[in-house]
Amino acid sequence: MNILFIGDIYGNPGRSAIRVFLKDLKEKYKVDLTIANGENAAGGKGITRAIANELYAAGIDFLTMGNHVWDQQSAVSFIDEEPRLIRPANYPLGAPGKGYGIIRVAGKKVGVLNLSGRVYLPSLDDPFSISIRWINELAKETNIILVDFHAEATSEKIALGWFLDGKVTAVLGTHTHVQTADARLLEHGTAYITDVGMTGPRDSVLGVKKELIIKRFLTQMPVKFEAASGPIQINAVVINVDDNTGRALQIIPIQITATA
Ligand code: FE2
Repeated sequence: MNILFIGDIYGNPGRSAIRVFLKDLKEKYKVDLTIANGENAAGGKGITRAIANELYAAGIDFLTMGNHVWDQQSAVSFIDEEPRLIRPANYPLGAPGKGYGIIRVAGKKVGVLNLSGRVYLPSLDDPFSISIRWINELAKETNIILVDFHAEATSEKIALGWFLDGKVTAVLGTHTHVQTADARLLEHGTAYITDVGMTGPRDSVLGVKKELIIKRFLTQMPVKFEAASGPIQINAVVINVDDNTGRALQIIPIQITATA
């Protein structure tokens, strides 16, 4: 099967990019399952139930999150009623929601695990040891398992890729909003990329109006973030998976921009 994984959808421009690009991408790559990181979908900060529903209607099957998961207060209550949306599995016990999910695709099951890094991010539980616990759980049901590692530091992401090489179908980095040029199959067959990138306004600083961020760097004063306008982009990867073994056969990075 072919699995499309879309990098962090940023605000209204990111949702526009989904409407503009997704249908054609799914046709071109014969996509069977579409997963996206949606933690910036509501104006850059978190997600609401209405926005999640908008993304499902636009063709996304499953959503992962990250450090912004609780930015919209409503997420705390609706996440427990939403089986298609997961948050990092290494939140401590007692946090709402779940860190993994299983999706049924054409008679097969696909497991998805969401983890957060701890370098330059809140000090959640250890993503390395927790990943093994949940992968063992998912492996009882399927050998097709994707991991969204929402993390800042390239070292932490690369280390988790090697740690899980051969244990999962793919380890896909999110959070830094810039697609890295290192998509590859690792030694034992796990598809890997340090960061899938950002789906949203291209001429921005990680999605935010560039003038605001430049002002912040110049003055060291707080600024209210606003999504940039202008050309929109989608950043994603397609993973071609051997349905029987769960091994990745290929990972294809995608970056497309439109000026509409
Ligand atoms: Fe993030």
